[in-house]
Amino acid sequence: MDDASAPYIRIEPPGPKARELIKLDEENIMQSFTRWYPLVVKTAYGSIVEDVDGNRYIDFNSGLVVVNVGHRHPKVVEAIKKQVDKLIHYSLTDFYYEEAARAALRLKKIAPIGDGKVFFTNSGAESIEAAIKISRGYYKSSRPYILSFIGGFHGRTYGAMSVSASKPVHRRGFSPLLPGIIHIPYPNPYRCPFAAETPSECSDGVIGFMEEYIFKHVVDPVEVSAIIFEPIQGEGGYVVPPDDFFWKLEKLVKPHGILMVDDEIQAGFGRTGKWFAIEHWGVEPDLVAMAKGIASGLPLGAVVGKRHLMTLPRGSHANTFGGNPVALAAFNAVVDIIISENLLEKALRDGEYIMRRLNELAEEVELIGDIRGKGLMIGVELVKDRDTKEPAVNETSAVIQESFKKGLLVVAAGYSTIRIAPPLTIERDLIDKGLEILEESLKAVGRVNNR
Ligand SMILES: Cc1ncc(COP(=O)(O)O)c(C=O)c1O
Repeated sequence: MDDASAPYIRIEPPGPKARELIKLDEENIMQSFTRWYPLVVKTAYGSIVEDVDGNRYIDFNSGLVVVNVGHRHPKVVEAIKKQVDKLIHYSLTDFYYEEAARAALRLKKIAPIGDGKVFFTNSGAESIEAAIKISRGYYKSSRPYILSFIGGFHGRTYGAMSVSASKPVHRRGFSPLLPGIIHIPYPNPYRCPFAAETPSECSDGVIGFMEEYIFKHVVDPVEVSAIIFEPIQGEGGYVVPPDDFFWKLEKLVKPHGILMVDDEIQAGFGRTGKWFAIEHWGVEPDLVAMAKGIASGLPLGAVVGKRHLMTLPRGSHANTFGGNPVALAAFNAVVDIIISENLLEKALRDGEYIMRRLNELAEEVELIGDIRGKGLMIGVELVKDRDTKEPAVNETSAVIQESFKKGLLVVAAGYSTIRIAPPLTIERDLIDKGLEILEESLKAVGRVNNR
């Protein structure tokens, strides 16, 4: 192989090895996944992924919004190896170990919660399940209702699936779901569900709907234990709410004792240029759920909650692997790297740069309807027509396939939004090369459509 730069397409994917392994996969693994394109990963480092046929790609996915500090960061690898030589497992459910107690203290200091406590899990969905149990458990089932947002995605286990409303395919065929969940519209400034001239009016539309319709006709707020939200909707389309939304929401729900559960599983851990995305709006949630980026690819999740809420009785909630020492070693390395490499600042700087380049591109490419995001969580929504805003669903898929063939890994969010979520460590020249490929792909797909 030549020097280690990307992209480098040696053989159009899927090459022979990829085809063989895909066949083996499809024969032996339940195919309930999404699977965007025939990428069969062999190895990955930094912001580069290599497939089994020797192709090299630029990773704008962070596989998938997980390796915020890059693939196999040397400090993460070193920390994992060191921990493996010391202790791999001893169930936190039943015993104690130093790694967990110290990591919890460290996580508390980062989380946007004053005086908190931590519960460790293994995944995003599990963190949401824990948050649901903590919320309902705190009110001893006297508040059976939970509010969540249309467009929200919180995972695929039963509780997490029940509070999600991103795409019907996630829920179809699995009812009955968890009872007591009420979905409300999310203030999407580009597609506001209410008549609104400005983003702020869009916030007012949602808040007014909750006050006038939900709380007066559907449920008494004294029966609602929690409202679960993503600070920036991820799977739902990389939707950034209006700047005033969360404090208006806080003002509405807090007096009723409704707990604010912040799902930072995708937006958290530096992704948006803050440790947690909610910090952009200065609102303090009651519970924060996290996973994905916190251990650079090892399975680890957590809920950090205000101390008085983290009081589920002994034996009522636990799991065998949560807070695994090896995953916690990776977590510690991730925190060190984000601090020592100034990745929060870098994410903001790179994010602004990418948004500027995309806005320039939008002047030439009619397909681009909206560009939005914070830090390195950026969505490019494609539309067939800028006036009607009809989602360009097939074109989005074509741009993603075209980019893949040219050596750029991107996937969609929602129905027609391309997400740009590279590792926070990505080098500027890889950003530029990735954006060039995206530009070529957008122009190629746009040209075909205009013929
Ligand atoms: C915001 C959000 N919450 C929850 C989840 C579920 O996480 P996991 O796949 O680790 O269960 C996801 C996964 O994409 C997510 O983006």
